[in-house]
Amino acid sequence: MMPTLFEPVKIRDMAVPNRFVRSATYDGCADTSGHVTDAQVALFEKLAAGGTGLIVTGIAYVHDSGRISAYQNSIADDDAIAGLKRLTDAVHDKGARIAVQLFHAGREAAGFLKTQNRQAAAPSVVAEDPYFQRPYREMTEDEIYEIISAFGDAAQRARKAGFDAVQLHAAHAYLPAQFLSPHANRRQDDWGGSLENRLRLHREIYENIREKAGRDYPVLVKLGVADGFDGGLIFDEGKQAAQLLARWGFDGLEISSGLRGKRYSETEFKTGISRTEKEAYFRQ
Ligand SMILES: Cc1cc2nc3c(=O)[nH]c(=O)nc-3n(C[C@H](O)[C@H](O)[C@H](O)COP(=O)(O)O)c2cc1C
Repeated sequence: MMPTLFEPVKIRDMAVPNRFVRSATYDGCADTSGHVTDAQVALFEKLAAGGTGLIVTGIAYVHDSGRISAYQNSIADDDAIAGLKRLTDAVHDKGARIAVQLFHAGREAAGFLKTQNRQAAAPSVVAEDPYFQRPYREMTEDEIYEIISAFGDAAQRARKAGFDAVQLHAAHAYLPAQFLSPHANRRQDDWGGSLENRLRLHREIYENIREKAGRDYPVLVKLGVADGFDGGLIFDEGKQAAQLLARWGFDGLEISSGLRGKRYSETEFKTGISRTEKEAYFRQ
């Protein structure tokens, strides 16, 4: 018989009480140091009390070069662990499981980094790109390795903070989606060209996480399988990418869109609700 949504499931050693998953949702409620606030603890407690089996947090930046907002959670530093532990405790108290979404914005960090007089970096600089107009620069190979290592360190912190799993954000035009996209990635070295090269970042991040967070830790990925415009990632390749990630060992795949995916989030962010109103709502 087919399992129903209300039946438990195990992802590696993570026992999820049912099949409902709250997809990662940026809540804009971290403080300006990227630390967890009371409003976030209240929000996650509410989600878990509502019966969701697995909750994925919103985007948590693993390295400050990939930060996208002033009110975004950080997992880039050990200082963040104590606050994150409050979130995982609140969720576990209600019987649910929680994964943190590990994030680097790549060129999409350009807007936020400009406020700090810094420049964002990406796999390649695409001349006259109709999909991205802000200035940014190409990453060096050393920088690529630094970011890979930051993902591994973040996963180690996640485990210390009590998260049951991590999810690599590889959709919606952010760094891994930029590497996978033949439109955004024009590199001539081992990080560009063939599908396996464009997925090398994902693979190296996966291995780094395994090394630092443990062979038994559930590692999930949210993958953009199509960019949604001519010259971008096509679905057939996206499907092959999903198969490769599964073969390499990722424990769970969430399928979403690639470079154009961010558009949905951008419109939804503009809800017109102020931060104070949002915090008041979560505290109810
Ligand atoms: C307000 C808002 C915030 C979101 N924040 C995130 C996020 O932090 N990480 C993420 O992967 N997706 C985020 N999303 C996207 C959703 O998780 C989901 O992927 C999207 O609604 C499209 O669904 P699909 O992936 O099934 O196509 C957000 C969506 C909205 C509306």
